[in-house]
Amino acid sequence: MLSDKDRIFTNLYGQRDWHLPGALSRGDWDGTKELVLKGRDWIINEMKNSGLRGRGGAGFPTGLKWSFMPKESKQPCYLVVNADESEPGTCKDRDIIRHDPQKLIEGCLLASVAMGAHTAYIYIRGEFVNEAHRLNEAVQEAYAAGLIGKNACGSGYDFDLYVHRGAGAYICGEETALLESLEGRKGQPRLKPPFPANSGLYGCPTTVNNVESIAVAPTILRRGASWFAGIGRPKNEGTKVFCISGHVEKPCNVEEAMGIPLRELIETHAGGVRGGWDNLLAIIPGGSSVPCIPKSICDTVLMDFDALREVKSGLGTAAVIVMDKSTDIIKAIARLAKFYKHESCGQCTPCREGTGWMWRVMERMVKGHATVEEIDMLLEVSFEIEGHTICALGDAAAWPIQGLIRHFRPEMEKRILEYRASAPRAA
Ligand SMILES: Cc1cc2nc3c(=O)[nH]c(=O)nc-3n(C[C@H](O)[C@H](O)[C@H](O)COP(=O)(O)O)c2cc1C
Repeated sequence: MLSDKDRIFTNLYGQRDWHLPGALSRGDWDGTKELVLKGRDWIINEMKNSGLRGRGGAGFPTGLKWSFMPKESKQPCYLVVNADESEPGTCKDRDIIRHDPQKLIEGCLLASVAMGAHTAYIYIRGEFVNEAHRLNEAVQEAYAAGLIGKNACGSGYDFDLYVHRGAGAYICGEETALLESLEGRKGQPRLKPPFPANSGLYGCPTTVNNVESIAVAPTILRRGASWFAGIGRPKNEGTKVFCISGHVEKPCNVEEAMGIPLRELIETHAGGVRGGWDNLLAIIPGGSSVPCIPKSICDTVLMDFDALREVKSGLGTAAVIVMDKSTDIIKAIARLAKFYKHESCGQCTPCREGTGWMWRVMERMVKGHATVEEIDMLLEVSFEIEGHTICALGDAAAWPIQGLIRHFRPEMEKRILEYRASAPRAA
């Protein structure tokens, strides 16, 4: 278990003052001027050496991503923070913003210095009304204290930060759809290349990072890359905020070491599975987009990018959705299929048509109104969507269904056969 001294988010549960004086007392903004003066190369190297991988889902190395920004640019460069957080099960960025907003604001300054950006935007999910108010208040406090704005922290670096509210669309969490939305257009993903580091916001060099990726940066830079890299496993370093929901005694967000065993995570922090570990059916370990894993895998799997990929699932956003044996897993996955159908932006045919098709078949599967052969057809359609769309929403829609079929095909077949045995035959 991670010791308290290694926790970055010391106010994750909001028990202390979130305002600037409280944040200062917890060590935020301590020596920030010196960190800024060390310059962009030093910051990027530290971030690379820390091993931090993006916390928004894909796990791309953060320092490397920052290094893609041009060193000489005639255009302005931008940092955009992704606070859209709409993935079902995921609720960590919201708590960081609610209770530790200064960590995010300080991270915005340091990340921007590393990328030569003098302006950053935080794009926050439309439904997060209270969080947007709080963030704006925290930004104003940082301006008033001279921590950001002209000559930020007395470092000679000018830096402006804006909070922009989305309008409540999951697709606007995809980084290029987010940029479209920020520019005032309909949130639809852009074709890549060009990647945002070459042509992002207003056609200028831009990096989009998750809230947690940015909020951990100041502590990493203060405590040193080797401290962060010393936690977790190789290529899966550091601490991570996990969101544990579903059939556990005490749903919670908790910051833990990467690579913690899934069972230990749930039993230590969430009071265990409702009715005991043996009552577990399956877990979705990384937010609704990743394939579920049955209890037999949950017994031993570690919670990091590589361990979960080895069992054909993913760490994603580290939102752990626990389902006990009372769960109708076919119905649960059908509900997710409905979500993806609703949230598809409709730009790519495989996603627009395929998500609706999968949802309708899944609705029949819930009742058993299908044929056993249709399970293979469903799987085939999911493969036709996966990897065939501009953005990863198509993959996100396909993977839960693939996970269901991989691990719970016998349950699907049983339901179909039971229905066929009980249904009145057509004359
Ligand atoms: C449909 C969709 C929704 C996404 N939603 C979010 C989100 O709400 N927050 C987020 O940080 N990343 C989200 N992502 C991932 C972003 O595109 C991007 O990879 C991420 O913001 C990069 O940040 P990181 O490198 O710090 O992880 C989403 C991706 C897809 C395809």
